[in-house]
Amino acid sequence: MPSPNNMSNATEGRWPDDVGIIATEIYFPSQYVDQEQLEIFDGIPAGKYTIGLGQSKMGFCTDCEDINSLCLTAVQNLMDRNQITYDSIGRLEVGTETIIDKSKSVKTVLMQLFGDSGNTSVEGIDTTNACYGGTAALFNAAAWVESSAWDGRYALVVAGDIAVYATGNARPTGGAGAIAMLVGPNAPLVLERGLRHTHMEHVYDFYKPDMASEYPRVDGKLSIQCYLGALDKCYQGYCVKAEAQMQKEGDSSHYTMDRFDAMCFHSPFCKLVQKSLARLMLNDFMRDPKPDTNDGGRYAGLRGYKDLKLEETFMDREVEKAFMNCSKEMFAAKTKPSTLVANQVGNMYTPSLYGGLVSFLASCNLAELPGKRIGLFSYGSGLAASLFSLQVKGDTAPGSPLWKLRSSLDDLKFRLDSRRCVEPSVFAETMKLREDTHHLAKYTPVGSIADLFPGTWYLTYVDEMHRRKYSSKPSSNLPSPRVDKVPVSSLINS
Ligand code: ACO
Repeated sequence: MPSPNNMSNATEGRWPDDVGIIATEIYFPSQYVDQEQLEIFDGIPAGKYTIGLGQSKMGFCTDCEDINSLCLTAVQNLMDRNQITYDSIGRLEVGTETIIDKSKSVKTVLMQLFGDSGNTSVEGIDTTNACYGGTAALFNAAAWVESSAWDGRYALVVAGDIAVYATGNARPTGGAGAIAMLVGPNAPLVLERGLRHTHMEHVYDFYKPDMASEYPRVDGKLSIQCYLGALDKCYQGYCVKAEAQMQKEGDSSHYTMDRFDAMCFHSPFCKLVQKSLARLMLNDFMRDPKPDTNDGGRYAGLRGYKDLKLEETFMDREVEKAFMNCSKEMFAAKTKPSTLVANQVGNMYTPSLYGGLVSFLASCNLAELPGKRIGLFSYGSGLAASLFSLQVKGDTAPGSPLWKLRSSLDDLKFRLDSRRCVEPSVFAETMKLREDTHHLAKYTPVGSIADLFPGTWYLTYVDEMHRRKYSSKPSSNLPSPRVDKVPVSSLINS
């Protein structure tokens, strides 16, 4: 394991450069239910889930996967595909709201992966607040790398959840998955310093007070209003900070969405993402002292909306429609590419935003990535929200960090398409099985192991003391685009 002492010269007296995301790995279940079929099964008018909510498929887990197994799979795949050694990790943060133990963290379960390396010196535990935990974990990891406590090793962030709802109108907005991210300096996805704004409030829009159930209590309409309200506050705060930076560089113009090449959102369902982009355009319109509402102008036809009060527009369908219409092109260019995983897997809760990020990256050719600025909006009910940004840096030569990051996503679409479609009745039975067996001890899961993707970890047994045992399927040849092992020393500033 690298000795912290060996690293101290390199980090003394200054922050490491370009701290951010070096590599990512996404895991989603190998099976899904089709939303069109679910509409028929649920006796819902055709189009409500698919057009109204904007969802095509919903990934779900049988009883042989739980939050620990999802995170084990994501971490192991990240480490294997990037040929990172476990002794090069100094911090591991988990963001999740899928709680199966009120004391023992998922992080400690993940330590079994570190067994052979002998590395037990790994800081970090779990962070929880609805869908925001992954972002808190990412911020914690980056803060560690930028702190006096950093010893030169990588940080790992894992965001994972199983999003399931009781039968009813929220059920089609479920999903499941996990994302692991390697964090360190000289990253191809750099967290922009000083450019993030957070908004937190006390509200009961979505929460999980019933420890015996996986299902949340949800006030759906309130949760949407809270999401959009938090988006307003975060964007306004972000703009103030961005404008202060711009002024230092002699630019006194207003910050607008033009400055983001892409905008990714936490995605409870894709239609809300489209409404959110429209909401940012509404914010730009309200902040613009002289919005061009003439024919052919950016805000053509919107003159009548200038005297609106933002906080009175959350449920105003006319305003929503007008700005969705006006932001159509911007949505297609900056946000739609980021909705692939959300549309195909559903709301994964904490990984949802990062599923958006990998979807966007996968949609771009490598050559067009350098220099792009990506805005990210993270929302967790209850509520905690942040808007922050990443800049894509580095060259695109084979073997470069950016090349490795982008190549690892080459098979994203293939992996989504290779999942198994199951009947809605099977999905409903599986949800019932999860309900009936949640927290059972002793318990041997009955879900099919054969149907899991190669390399997937799964739950084999819960003993009478509620201790969980796991095993993993042999990994087949997951494409490994990386060419060589990343030496820790290459991360350190010289
Ligand atoms: N064809 C096309 N569209 C239709 C049809 C149809 N046949 N029927 C309805 N729709 C549209 C509606 O007009 C509506 O669209 P609009 O809002 O753009 O007008 C959309 O489908 C949804 O219909 P609603 O009646 O609003 O849906 P409902 O109230 O039954 O449920 C909700 C939606 C509240 C989002 C529910 O699924 C839920 O509670 N989900 C969980 C909470 C959630 O995800 N909150 C978001 C932030 S918090 C978080 O991330 C967990």
